[in-house]
Amino acid sequence: MLSRSLLSGLLALGQVLTVSARPHHNKHQKHDNSPQQYSPKLYSVGTEPQIDGLSSYTTSSSVTLNNGSSVLTLDFQSEVAGWPFLDVTAVDLSQGPVQVELKYSEEYNGLNSALADGPWLYSYGLMNSFRTETFNITKTGQIQSYFLQGGQRWMSVTLLTGGSVSIVAAGFEASVNIIEPEDLPGTFSSSNSTFDAVWGLGARAVQAACIDEGSQTSLWDISSEGAYIRGQYPAVTSKSTSDWNLYTLEFTTKIDTGGTGWKMVTGPSSGYGAYFILTSNTAGLASAALEPLPLNSLTIGYGFSIIQQALLPSANPETLDVNMTIHNDVWYRIKTVVTSDHWAVYVNDTLIANVDATPFQGAAQQVWGSGSLSAGSFGFGPWYSQAAWFRDVQLTAANGTVLYTNPLTSDVDGAAEDTLLEYAVHANPQSVCLDGPKRDRDAWIGDFAHTARSILVSSGRVDYIKSMIELEFTWSSVSGEGHNLVPIAASIGTDASHAFEWYTGIYGEADYEFFFMAVMGEYFAATNDTRLFTQYWDQATAFMAAAVDVFVDPNTHLATLNNVAANGGSGASFFTAQGETTGTAPTALFVKGLNLMTKIATVLGDTNSADSWSALSKTMTDAINLSTWTGSFYGVSPTNMGTSSVLATAFTIQAGVATDQSSTGSIQALAGSLLNIGYKDTSAAANSATTQLSPNTQGFLLEALFEAYLTLNISVDVVLPAIITLTSTYWPVMVNQNQYYTGASWEYTYPDGSPGIGLFTSLGHPWGGAPTYVYSNYLLGIRTEWNDDINQFEWVFDPVYEVASALSLTWIKGTVPLASGGSITASWEANIDGTYTSSVKVTGNNNIKVRDLTK
Ligand SMILES: *[C@@H]1O[C@H](CO)[C@@H](O)[C@H](O)[C@H]1NC(C)=O
Ligand SMILES: *[C@@H]1O[C@H](CO)[C@@H](O)[C@H](O)[C@H]1NC(C)=O
Ligand SMILES: *[C@@H]1O[C@H](CO)[C@@H](O)[C@H](O)[C@H]1NC(C)=O
Ligand SMILES: *[C@@H]1O[C@H](CO)[C@@H](O)[C@H](O)[C@H]1NC(C)=O
Ligand SMILES: *[C@@H]1O[C@H](CO)[C@@H](O)[C@H](O)[C@H]1NC(C)=O
Ligand SMILES: *[C@@H]1O[C@H](CO)[C@@H](O)[C@H](O)[C@H]1NC(C)=O
Ligand SMILES: *[C@@H]1O[C@H](CO)[C@@H](O)[C@H](O)[C@H]1NC(C)=O
Ligand SMILES: *[C@@H]1O[C@H](CO)[C@@H](O)[C@H](O)[C@H]1NC(C)=O
Ligand SMILES: *[C@@H]1O[C@H](CO)[C@@H](O)[C@H](O)[C@H]1NC(C)=O
Repeated sequence: MLSRSLLSGLLALGQVLTVSARPHHNKHQKHDNSPQQYSPKLYSVGTEPQIDGLSSYTTSSSVTLNNGSSVLTLDFQSEVAGWPFLDVTAVDLSQGPVQVELKYSEEYNGLNSALADGPWLYSYGLMNSFRTETFNITKTGQIQSYFLQGGQRWMSVTLLTGGSVSIVAAGFEASVNIIEPEDLPGTFSSSNSTFDAVWGLGARAVQAACIDEGSQTSLWDISSEGAYIRGQYPAVTSKSTSDWNLYTLEFTTKIDTGGTGWKMVTGPSSGYGAYFILTSNTAGLASAALEPLPLNSLTIGYGFSIIQQALLPSANPETLDVNMTIHNDVWYRIKTVVTSDHWAVYVNDTLIANVDATPFQGAAQQVWGSGSLSAGSFGFGPWYSQAAWFRDVQLTAANGTVLYTNPLTSDVDGAAEDTLLEYAVHANPQSVCLDGPKRDRDAWIGDFAHTARSILVSSGRVDYIKSMIELEFTWSSVSGEGHNLVPIAASIGTDASHAFEWYTGIYGEADYEFFFMAVMGEYFAATNDTRLFTQYWDQATAFMAAAVDVFVDPNTHLATLNNVAANGGSGASFFTAQGETTGTAPTALFVKGLNLMTKIATVLGDTNSADSWSALSKTMTDAINLSTWTGSFYGVSPTNMGTSSVLATAFTIQAGVATDQSSTGSIQALAGSLLNIGYKDTSAAANSATTQLSPNTQGFLLEALFEAYLTLNISVDVVLPAIITLTSTYWPVMVNQNQYYTGASWEYTYPDGSPGIGLFTSLGHPWGGAPTYVYSNYLLGIRTEWNDDINQFEWVFDPVYEVASALSLTWIKGTVPLASGGSITASWEANIDGTYTSSVKVTGNNNIKVRDLTK
């Protein structure tokens, strides 16, 4: 967990001066073994950020920023997370207020970009939507940000004004507990330090991305005065219905700094919508990142926000002068009337703007939006650097019916909690693993397939896996569209009581449902947790029945989205099949899920489920053979047989669908998808400098290559070229480029080995960390395998020496933690005569035996 206590005697200044008038920060619980804070390892002071020639940082490293040296660079050397702070020992206010701008970035280049490596105006994520922020320094003492920053290696502090400021300490008060890979319960070390460093990537990523219950604090402060909301991606109510059309929104607001903002006619979780920002007549904080909006103005935009950010476009906003004076610290009643083609804004009953909405029509979107300029949800969020209070919200239909009210105050017991959950800005009620600590900060269940595996061999925090499985079942709705399916990307700031309101997102990446089967099976394989599955078995079987019903075509027996579309479901796609509505990879992934779930059912004694799932597995296996095998590789889908893909190759092997001949063919076909350092998702993807290479898809392939070699009759020469490419060329780019290095695995790369969405790339993505578990399971050689004789998963020690030897690895040692306590430690070494010396032992657990297959 975390902590963010205010040190007594020191005043925490957020983004505003009037500290005493602001609501208090929430109090946090502290986890015993959490680091208190993360301190920089290296620093420099100069006129611009620096990457080379930095000095060692110590607690006595006091620096002074002034006109001559205005930029402090702080290097934490690897991914850290928490609430940024500065300890100010001196400030020279003789030339007026002193303001500094902080920047946060995973890669170094973010420090040279105006907005650092952000912003991320897409999900609330319980962190600052922006990666830059300004502090107004009015006195000495500690300054701490209200918002946490979820993941970065770098921070800079730039003096924006005259005067000077002396800083004696800076860093992050920890929001997650990141332990160095070598100090974890699971370890890996080998004769080649590059392999060790690559193993560490997933081990660090899962620690940065998995968050303890309550550790990421709420984004709004609710008191008897109302909700105090700082400049942030607007959070919307989860209560919208399809009736919310042609309505009037009213609320009362008081500007503390800069301005106030609200969003209307948006998608159910914000996304595309109209954004209104009203500024006061008083200048807010200085900023080098974003030009402040004009004083006393109204800005109207449409999109995720009012600025362009990577992947998420916004229409160009309009800014209008407001013909009345808007003061800080004065309450105003704002009324916005939505008609079929206009948005009219009133302040205390004075019309200040009647905006023609039709120019924004081109920007309206069905996905992540209502698709309409007069319908959808609403929410609140002032713009960058602003802060305001909000209260007394009312939504009224055109016929006068009141559709919604909320005082946004804490006056009634429990009301504040309810409001925070309703707007998904509550401190995270469940322990979950995010896709990435910086973004998206959603609990994507598909990404979690890799995350769970890396946890099992490194941090050993199986409580996160249990919590994710429980979340999926407790959020699953038992009625309505998609009932008994599970959420593919739970929002972290709310709980199951609001799950159904967010259920509109059920489709999306529909094959993430299939990954959930694999998550359950692989968790069970490593833990034998019959208790958890006994508790949730009814839900698990209902989920499986729903998945079969919704996604398996009764005629072709392939996984398909046709039923979803036929039933009016929208927005569904197969992540693993490049958007095809029927595909080889999703079908094979489904088969892998069935095979694993069959094993759980077998152990639990549910023979009906086991029989029906294994029969379906066989039927779907035959269907893949019949309709997607080209004779030389598996096509992406029956209608796209000319294209081979990494995931069709990987999942047909992992599902046991591929034969000696077909696995050999599809692995060899991958050569046609090699682009410089790694494999494109498909042979049809362009050979361009900006083609994204995915460590997620290649991670599944990496394990599949070991599985093919171990379970099929194919020579090591079939799998080696791809294994060597992945382990020796592809993954090392994440460890050997200082300007990008975070010590954690990445989301994407470009073919030149740089991050694959530029500055926007998450460089803390567990989905890019498969080598962590593949190296532990196959190179160190500790893993579980199903034993048909005893109908149980059991531990084996079985290093794949032929591959290790081809990778020039001469020894490996390491430990895998056990969910039921203790661990398995093993080591092996190649002798000069070609034989191997090895050992394996279980410590701290009398119930677990390991079958030593090296003997
Ligand atoms: C910094 O110093 C330069 C001259 O060295 C001067 O022109 C400039 O105005 C100063 N800037 C500030 C913010 O004091
Ligand atoms: C008024 O409008 C709302 C929202 O469209 C609708 O649900 C309600 O039935 C209407 N009431 C009347 C009396 O027409
Ligand atoms: C910054 O602090 C100064 C006092 O040093 C104060 O006058 C000014 O209003 C503050 N600015 C903001 C935007 O809070
Ligand atoms: C502001 O302009 C609107 C028309 O756009 C007018 O109705 C209103 O009276 C004006 N308000 C003031 C205070 O002048
Ligand atoms: C606007 O209305 C609020 C009440 O809704 C009132 O408190 C405030 O004084 C009014 N402001 C002005 C400038 O009239
Ligand atoms: C497809 O099925 C046939 C007949 O069972 C079998 O001989 C062949 O090996 C299978 N091929 C693949 C690629 O699975
Ligand atoms: C394995 O493959 C080799 C070479 O293709 C073949 O000679 C051998 O018979 C196969 N073994 C089995 C058990 O199928
Ligand atoms: C260690 O592995 C890396 C990446 O595969 C390789 O480039 C390097 O040559 C290896 N070093 C040794 C000593 O084998
Ligand atoms: C699961 O339990 C069985 C028997 O209780 C045991 O033999 C086996 O080693 C266990 N497997 C794992 C992976 O813990």
